[in-house]
Amino acid sequence: MSYAPDLEPVDAKAERAALPGIAYIDGAYCPVTEAKIPVLDWGFLRSDATYDVVHVWDGRFFRLDKHVARFMNSAARLRLKVPVEEDALRAILAECVRRSGMREAYVEMVCTRGFSPTFARDPRAAVNRFYAFSLPFSWVADAEQRERGLHLVVSSVRRIPAEAVDPTVKNYHWLDFVSGLFDAYDRGGENTILIDARGDITEGPGFNVFTVVGGAVTTPPSGVLEGITRQTALELCAELGVAARLRAISPEALRAADEVFITSTAGGIMAATRIDDATIGDGRPGPLTKRLAALYWDKHREPAWTTAVAY
Ligand SMILES: Cc1ncc(COP(=O)(O)O)c(C=O)c1O
Repeated sequence: MSYAPDLEPVDAKAERAALPGIAYIDGAYCPVTEAKIPVLDWGFLRSDATYDVVHVWDGRFFRLDKHVARFMNSAARLRLKVPVEEDALRAILAECVRRSGMREAYVEMVCTRGFSPTFARDPRAAVNRFYAFSLPFSWVADAEQRERGLHLVVSSVRRIPAEAVDPTVKNYHWLDFVSGLFDAYDRGGENTILIDARGDITEGPGFNVFTVVGGAVTTPPSGVLEGITRQTALELCAELGVAARLRAISPEALRAADEVFITSTAGGIMAATRIDDATIGDGRPGPLTKRLAALYWDKHREPAWTTAVAY
């Protein structure tokens, strides 16, 4: 007699149709909805993992080298040994995209602690694992939100202290962000920004934050992921001759800015036009934000910044 509860079986075919994509797991490729990680993996049980996300636009990876370098560096900082060489890793990412046939994709690489044959408590005994998958391109803000600017809420939830979990190592410690999101929804917002112990703003779930004041751009210097899109935005400012500086931003300064934008692999450079109850500028995406966003997408055609997928 079985004591297993009579759970509704997952409709794998419907899942697959709803979410096309290809995963690489245990040395083989499969539909992303069929890729299953072992329940004992510390990546799942302890958030003991690092990852990175690169996007493909019009059949080309954008700044792949930077994402792979950040991923390898994050793994080394966590004393994880990525069990594939860098060239093989790039080939696997490209193969996930090629097999999915997608011209626009969101491509994730993951290295987890894995587990030891005896499930020992010593992380040094674990056999580290590598996973990757390609999904349809995903946006932090939907089309309407991108057009009119996002409505963000500065949550009272604190970001996990940088001294406890280094935010420059891309990680899955998202309970603070998820609490912040619910806080934002409860207060009529669409997304959230968390504060640090000093009360200054940090970042949001999947994005960095910028202000524009008097034509100059500011983003927090530390306590955040050093986003590749954040770096790209700073480079684009240099190209346009726009002053950019790394400095703390208080919630009051954020609400009083001329323009606010966020940066993410999942959507590039996107305007925020309401912070809490404050309207930013005239309530529409600002001119510098729009200029930077246009330049960002132009760069997707530059061979120096992109890597073609061989479909
Ligand atoms: C916490 C956090 N901050 C910022 C970002 C933006 O980084 P990137 O521009 O490299 O996508 C991300 C990306 O997922 C993130 O998870």
